[in-house]
Parts: sequence; C-alpha cells; structure tokens
Amino acid sequence: MKRTLFKYLTRLLPAEAAHSLHTTLLGAMGALPMGKWWLRTMLAPKRKIALDKEVFGIHFRNPIGVAAGFDSDGDRLEELAAVGFGFVEIGSVVSRPQPGTSRPRIKRLRSSDSLVDRSGYPSGGLEYALNNVRRRTKYTRNLVIGCNIGKLTASHAEDTVKEYLRVFRNMYQYVDFFVINVACNTASKRFIPRSREELLALVEPLFEFRRGQPDYRPILLKISPDLTQEEIDVVIDILIETPLDGIEAVAGSLNLLPEEAGAVSGARLTERALEVVRYIAERTEGNYPIIGSGGMMQPEDISRMLAAGASLVALNTGLRENGLRLLSRTSKLLFTEQEEQKIENESNNNNHRR
Ligand SMILES: Cc1cc2nc3c(=O)[nH]c(=O)nc-3n(C[C@H](O)[C@H](O)[C@H](O)COP(=O)(O)O)c2cc1C
Repeated sequence: MKRTLFKYLTRLLPAEAAHSLHTTLLGAMGALPMGKWWLRTMLAPKRKIALDKEVFGIHFRNPIGVAAGFDSDGDRLEELAAVGFGFVEIGSVVSRPQPGTSRPRIKRLRSSDSLVDRSGYPSGGLEYALNNVRRRTKYTRNLVIGCNIGKLTASHAEDTVKEYLRVFRNMYQYVDFFVINVACNTASKRFIPRSREELLALVEPLFEFRRGQPDYRPILLKISPDLTQEEIDVVIDILIETPLDGIEAVAGSLNLLPEEAGAVSGARLTERALEVVRYIAERTEGNYPIIGSGGMMQPEDISRMLAAGASLVALNTGLRENGLRLLSRTSKLLFTEQEEQKIENESNNNNHRR
C-alpha cells in the first residue's frame, strides 16, 4: 500500500472529519484570488495528455470523475472542475433535506484501505442542490455534471417513484445526465429494488417525462455489488430492452463484511466491482456505457476498470483516502499506456508489411 503525505495526514483524523476538512480547504483555496488557477496548476492533469471521449452523446475531457457521496450537494463544483475531473456526480439528491444518521457514521478499516459508511445520504435536499447547479459559472460551464437521485430515508416505499420523479423533473434542465440509485440507502437497507417490475416502475415515469423534453438527458441505473448474477441479468435486460442509457456498477457492499453495520467501499470492493463491470460488458458486448465504481484506490485500479469495459470511472474512497492527485497520477499512467500501445501497434504494422 502506497503511503503519501496526504494519506498520513488524513489518517490523523476520523474518516468523516478528514473529508470535511479536505473539502473545506478545497473551498477556501478556490475562493482565494488565483485559487482556482493554483488548483489547476498543482493538481490537474497536464494539458498535453488527451484522454477525452464521447459517451452517451456527451463529450468528456477525460473518463475519470467524482462519484456520488463525495460532493453530495454540489458545493465544490468549481474547485473539482479546476482540478480537471471529467465529470462530477452530485448526490444522492433526495427530495427534502435530511441530516443522515448520528456520528460517527463512517468507519475507516485501516488494515484494508476501506471505509464502512452508514451515513444514510446526509443531504441539503433538492432545493439546495438545485441552487448549486442552476447557475453555471465560467469555471463550471464545461463541466459535465451528473445528478444521482436517491431515496429519502424516512419516506414510504409507495412514495419513492413520486420522489425520484420530483428530483428528476426539477434537475432536468440543469444537469447533463442522471444516475438512479437503486443500490441502497445505507440507513434503510430494505430499499433495494431487484425485480424487473420494481425497477421498471421507477424508470418508466422518467422515460415518459424525458420524451416530452426538447433536450435528451441520459439515464443510468446504479446497482449494488450484492446482486446475484440473475439480478444483474434483470438490469442488463432492462438496459437492452428499454431506453435506459447505461449502468453504474457498483455502490458500496452490505454483504462483503456482514459484521460491519454499513456499506463497504474502497480496496475491499475492488475485485467485486471489476467482476461486475466485466460481466456487464461481456453480456452487452461492450455496446452500452458503463460507469465503473468501487475500490478505485490507485491508478492501476482505474486502468483495470477501463480494460474491464467501463466507459467512465467514478471515484469516492480513493479521493477521500489518497487525495485529489489520484486524477493526475492516473492520467499519466493512461497516457503512458496509450503511447506504449501506439508503439506496439506501429511495430506490429511494420512487421506485417515486411
Ligand atoms: C461516505 C460515502 C458516502 C456515499 N454516498 C453515496 C450517495 O449518497 N449516493 C450513492 O449513490 N453512493 C454513495 N456512495 C457510494 C460511492 O458513490 C461509490 O459508489 C462506492 O463507495 C464505491 O466506490 P469507492 O470504493 O470508490 O468509494 C458513498 C460512499 C461513501 C464512502
């Protein structure tokens, strides 16, 4: 496990306090004159490294973004844009503000570079997040913003569809794509829709609303790593048979460490996340976009996730525990791999001609 100064300092504090301090410092830095320029200079991938790509009709400057739960309310969009992320997924946005569970609610598993989260989507709610995305500034004008929609912990199951639709309709014109979280709310474990009927009941009203809009917004389902293969097949069938645009795999796991009361993320999740993404990519023959998430702690993990078939990769625990520099370190690795691939292709072509 690689030890950096960031990691050393982060581990002096409990996991949630470290993240709060980290994002507060990021905000303070961004607010300084020339602060965003400094963030870009210090942290963003170098300009000559071109990793841009087109996924579900959207141009991404690079395939690496921020996963839900890192900047849930969209408070640090300008700073994360300056750091150079390809996209930021805000959320889970829920229809009303909710404080989440009592602290401490995020546990660090030091021995395994992982976190256990039982915070239950603390959120400023729809209106708060809307305020943050409504006005794009010169810094966020070109940032791809995804909105992850989640279930309010206290609401009844029968209100879920209405709540998701409410967030979707209000956010529609302000964000670039949507991720519908059907993994779990770590505070209300019972909510994991798994059957075709339950999943369609959630997404069909969203498709219906989208049909009447002048602009198209891609919709993805974010799934739990705890689904069985048959349950993953249900989601894949929906992807193939309906206007669903992609799958984000995976969220934190409630099953990996059943003795822990919460969702496991970070290094303990890496292999399962890769396995699920590889399976979806193979079954769909690489024809549908997948956002890979789960245990992306080092550049090599992200490279493996792209090789497994992910079109984009979303980071959370890796950024919390290893710092924002993970993005530029990964860009360097991907660029080197691309260059090596080019050289190999050229030499193969030359051998072929001879
Ligand atoms: C503290 C914390 C809060 C999270 N909050 C959310 C959330 O609100 N909505 C969501 O869909 N996923 C949430 N996640 C899950 C992450 O987005 C991600 O899918 C999962 O943690 C696996 O990736 P990772 O190992 O890189 O963290 C959260 C994860 C953590 C650690």
